[in-house]
Amino acid sequence: MLKAYYNALTKIKSPMKNLAQHLETIVQEKTTAIKAIQSCQDVENVRIAFCGRKGHIAHLMEQLKDLPIDEKKIYGPRINQLKTDIQQELDALLHTISQEEIAKKNAQQKNFDVTAYRLKELKGTTHIYTQIIEDLENVFISMGYDIIDGPEAENEYNNFEALNIPAHHPAREEEDSFYLKMPGMLLRTQTSSVQARAMKGKTPPIAFFSPGRVYRKEATDQTHDFLFTQAEGLLINKDVSVSNLLATARTFLQKIFEKDDLNIRVRPGYFPFVEPGLEIDASCPFCTQGCSVCKRTGWIELLGSGLIHPNVLKEGGIDPTIYSGFAFGMGIERIAMIKYGINDIRLFHSSKINFLDQF
Ligand code: PHE
Repeated sequence: MLKAYYNALTKIKSPMKNLAQHLETIVQEKTTAIKAIQSCQDVENVRIAFCGRKGHIAHLMEQLKDLPIDEKKIYGPRINQLKTDIQQELDALLHTISQEEIAKKNAQQKNFDVTAYRLKELKGTTHIYTQIIEDLENVFISMGYDIIDGPEAENEYNNFEALNIPAHHPAREEEDSFYLKMPGMLLRTQTSSVQARAMKGKTPPIAFFSPGRVYRKEATDQTHDFLFTQAEGLLINKDVSVSNLLATARTFLQKIFEKDDLNIRVRPGYFPFVEPGLEIDASCPFCTQGCSVCKRTGWIELLGSGLIHPNVLKEGGIDPTIYSGFAFGMGIERIAMIKYGINDIRLFHSSKINFLDQF
């Protein structure tokens, strides 16, 4: 608004008979215009209106040209003084106003709420599998174990025969395993299939930990899936006994569940590749009296294990009269489900972002 006003003002080139009168008007205009200034832009507009090439001062100067010399001597210095006054006043104003404007901007920025209207960001994290597996691997690395891998497409020898599972064993039936078109090949049903591979050509001590996917042809429900993850642990040396197995199991379970007073108990179990075969349960990490996680028993089934069957050592090229060892296996999802309270195993490979986002 102010700009339009001053533009109009500069256009008033009224035929001023009297320079003195004109000067008087401009001095008054100057006072009004400067009073009205509110912003840096206003200062600039007033400067142009008064001191610009076509401004009031220029106009007065033009009029001065036609005056007799003695009047020039009177009005010339007055006009110049007016110009200097205007410039000084405008400079001072510009300084204060720009300081105020900066302070105002800063205050606005200070109150700027960085959390308002924040777009939901999709943040990548490691998959829950990776986290649990890395935690387990770190525990076993700290105990001196190697981490090894094995193929998911495996031959029947490594998955069954080398593990003392003979041809007539029910686990070998077509309905239980995914056989591949290639004869004698299947998707491994257990990570125990790495045992023979890890023994061949090696002299004990041997100690490895081997996580990986396994496949079983079965109907899925909340606790069963056709694809899941297991980990196998194995140690072979001279004089390895059940007490070594139990100490190892207790130590790593305490670390994984972050509970130093976690205890274990042992029940007999049957696996063709161990003798004796043991099921190891952990005391419930969440209660002392029984809760829904441990189904009110205070114990949770976690590991299949035992001392390695002499036939398995022989198949691996290791003399069972000199060496002995233990092996144990666990379901990775089961450990994660207990640790994090997950109620459906199928969520793990569902790719559901709102499930995965929680870890
Ligand atoms: N492979 C067995 C299973 O899948 C677990 C196991 C591993 C048992 C090693 C004994 C020794 O159930």
